[in-house]
Amino acid sequence: MTGPLLQARGLRKTFGKGQAAFEALQGVSLDIQEGDTTAIVGPSGSGKSTLMHLLAGLDVPTAGAVEYRGRPLSAASPSELDRIRNTEFGFVFQHFHLDEAASVLENVAMPLTIAGMAPDERRARVACALTRLGLEERIDERAGVLSGGQKQRVALARAIVNRPRVVFADEPTGALDQATGHTVTDLMFDLNLTEGITLVIVTHANDLAERCSQQFRIVDGALTRPLRTAVA
Ligand SMILES: Nc1ncnc2c1ncn2[C@@H]1O[C@H](COP(=O)(O)OP(=O)(O)O)[C@@H](O)[C@H]1O
Ligand SMILES: [Mg+2]
Repeated sequence: MTGPLLQARGLRKTFGKGQAAFEALQGVSLDIQEGDTTAIVGPSGSGKSTLMHLLAGLDVPTAGAVEYRGRPLSAASPSELDRIRNTEFGFVFQHFHLDEAASVLENVAMPLTIAGMAPDERRARVACALTRLGLEERIDERAGVLSGGQKQRVALARAIVNRPRVVFADEPTGALDQATGHTVTDLMFDLNLTEGITLVIVTHANDLAERCSQQFRIVDGALTRPLRTAVA
């Protein structure tokens, strides 16, 4: 593929209407190449999560466009968009978003269940993802009993179980202590290195942002100059 994997042009997002309208994004443009590791940094409330949601097709812009692999997400049918989000993208959130009452297996298998995979095949694929993250022995445990770092590794296993091209992570280390955060970060960069998974990471952690091939800083819904741009 030539051209960027993800391209944002003039993204605007307004929440609310009339007097209460609030412009969370005021014209954001950026490119992400396949294999890039991209950090989105900035103060709380600056629009980082909003930007990530638009890039990942979880929300639609008020104006502007996101292209994925050269095609506007707005041109995808609802079922095509579901397929892209479920099989080409993986997601990791600050507070894990696990079903704590369900098993690790059920949590990690969720994207496979949605895709209609048979139970036997699901278990094999989940085991493979868990092994990748050093959690294979936890497969039948209840997610709720795990530590924070283990929960985030389960969330990461769920994000990669469908072998996505892109993992979007919104403050993935925000709820973890420093050492545990480092473990999760190392695993993410390892996935980039060994499997070529493109990473888009919203973060407050400087050390995490510094490791990325490019950083975008967002203040009041607009990008400031790129802090560092990936070199070819
Ligand atoms: N669904 C929503 N409805 C109204 N306002 C929202 C909504 N989502 C985000 N906002 C507002 O948009 C701004 C940016 O939010 P967000 O992207 O979550 O910031 P960040 O992730 O950088 O902390 C904030 O002021 C937030 O209150
Ligand atoms: Mg946020």
